[in-house]
Amino acid sequence: MRDLRQTIFQKYRHQNRYNNFGACLHSVTINGFRGIHELEINFEYPITAISGINGSGKSTIGQLAICGYRKPVVAQNYKRYYIKDFFPVNVADPTPFGVGSNVVYSYTTNLPRNQELTVTRMQSEWSGYKRQPERHCFYVGFTLYIPKVERKDLSIYRAQQIELGLRRELSDISKQHVGRILNNHYDDIAFQEITHLNKSGELGLASRNGHVYSENNMGFGEGRLLYMIDMMENTPTQSLFVIEEPETSLHEDAQHHLANYFLDVVNRRHHQIILSTHSNIILETLPPEARKFLIRQGNQVRVHDKLSAYRAKSLLSNGHQKALNICVEDDFASHLLAEIIRRLRPDILKVINIQPVGDTDAVRNAVNLLREFNLRTIGIRDADKGSNPPEKLFSLPGTQPPEVEVYRDNSVIQSLNQEFDFDVEHIFNITAEIDHHEFGEILSRHAVIDQQILDYKAINYYIDNKGNDFFNDLIATIEREL
Ligand SMILES: Nc1ncnc2c1ncn2[C@@H]1O[C@H](COP(=O)(O)OP(=O)(O)O)[C@@H](O)[C@H]1O
Ligand SMILES: [Mg+2]
Repeated sequence: MRDLRQTIFQKYRHQNRYNNFGACLHSVTINGFRGIHELEINFEYPITAISGINGSGKSTIGQLAICGYRKPVVAQNYKRYYIKDFFPVNVADPTPFGVGSNVVYSYTTNLPRNQELTVTRMQSEWSGYKRQPERHCFYVGFTLYIPKVERKDLSIYRAQQIELGLRRELSDISKQHVGRILNNHYDDIAFQEITHLNKSGELGLASRNGHVYSENNMGFGEGRLLYMIDMMENTPTQSLFVIEEPETSLHEDAQHHLANYFLDVVNRRHHQIILSTHSNIILETLPPEARKFLIRQGNQVRVHDKLSAYRAKSLLSNGHQKALNICVEDDFASHLLAEIIRRLRPDILKVINIQPVGDTDAVRNAVNLLREFNLRTIGIRDADKGSNPPEKLFSLPGTQPPEVEVYRDNSVIQSLNQEFDFDVEHIFNITAEIDHHEFGEILSRHAVIDQQILDYKAINYYIDNKGNDFFNDLIATIEREL
């Protein structure tokens, strides 16, 4: 999946974006809706997964995003969405927005600049819809699939009299994906037209393990998935989908495969997807650029980029117990920092909470988030990033990413060669296109040892070789912040 994520990144790069995704949303700025003011959300990836606690504003963002496009001239049986569809005003709800409330939509264009258009609340109506670009937009809320047995449906109350009409087979690719997500093999999936007098409807049908059953005997998760995938495969390419909590009624493994399906369908059909979710599995399956975490504090909602709900929660809860949070980029940086502190100031190790949070932007965001909550926090990024003390961002000593600092250090290489009876340089030379994040993994395979143990040994050889003085500035920085 890593490759697919990268392929999508390439397609979504600014210079390629319009060719692949058309006039997709680049950002939306919300002013004056349900207590949200001046909130800008950037869509850094064609899939955006918005998380945050209940009431933080996830649905509001998706609902406003989907009101950003006109009905395509070619569209049939299609209704566009307007703000009034999602924000009714009545005696019970007098002010979901006010006069002057507005949404600024920024669309991708085939020029270097994006196109900005604003929809504004005038006295009693909205202005700005007419100039919007065209796009098919689909809102996958909680009623996309309501089990027919729970409503008075034709297939239930006229069960004995219905006649079968046309049958529409689900494409092979959709069938494969439904099967992969639910870990089932389907021989067949189709939608069957049913009629009775002048009424008609469609019924999902599945066949597996020699049994045939309709959606009236499907699990809820299975039924909802069938409808969702059918929609994403059969709507025009470059559509916008806003999906509410796609994890609904799916077990965890299925959630993971569903997120992979989103990557797959976006790569094939160039849709833009904006989803709200409480599923850490979905968040962690998507790349960091796809993750947005909302925090509502009083009359302010802020977006924290690249953080998954899991990271945010663990940061917030652990933070209460420690004197200082230190956010670093990844596991290797966290192990290196812990060993440096253990060597120079073992007494402070216990009161520090070192958290790997993702990449350099994630470190900055995590530090901002925790400091907003008055939790003492600094970021220590890789040595190649440099430091920025006013933002409480510092860096590891040296000049290069920590994996390079450690595994490319001559004395570390010598010590490892001796201990494991191999030749590190030779191994790196014969391994094509090696990324520094893979150094430990590749060497541990040759050494036949667990990677964490090898990392630990290499890190300690590195600290031995550099000597304590090399780390004095870093330790002094941490002590100052404690
Ligand atoms: N008129 C209003 N003024 C201020 N805040 C409001 C108003 N109406 C709703 N809200 C806030 O919006 C929240 C709902 O936003 P929503 O986007 O549906 O949240 P989420 O999808 O993250 O659960 C409510 O919990 C409330 O905090
Ligand atoms: Mg919601």
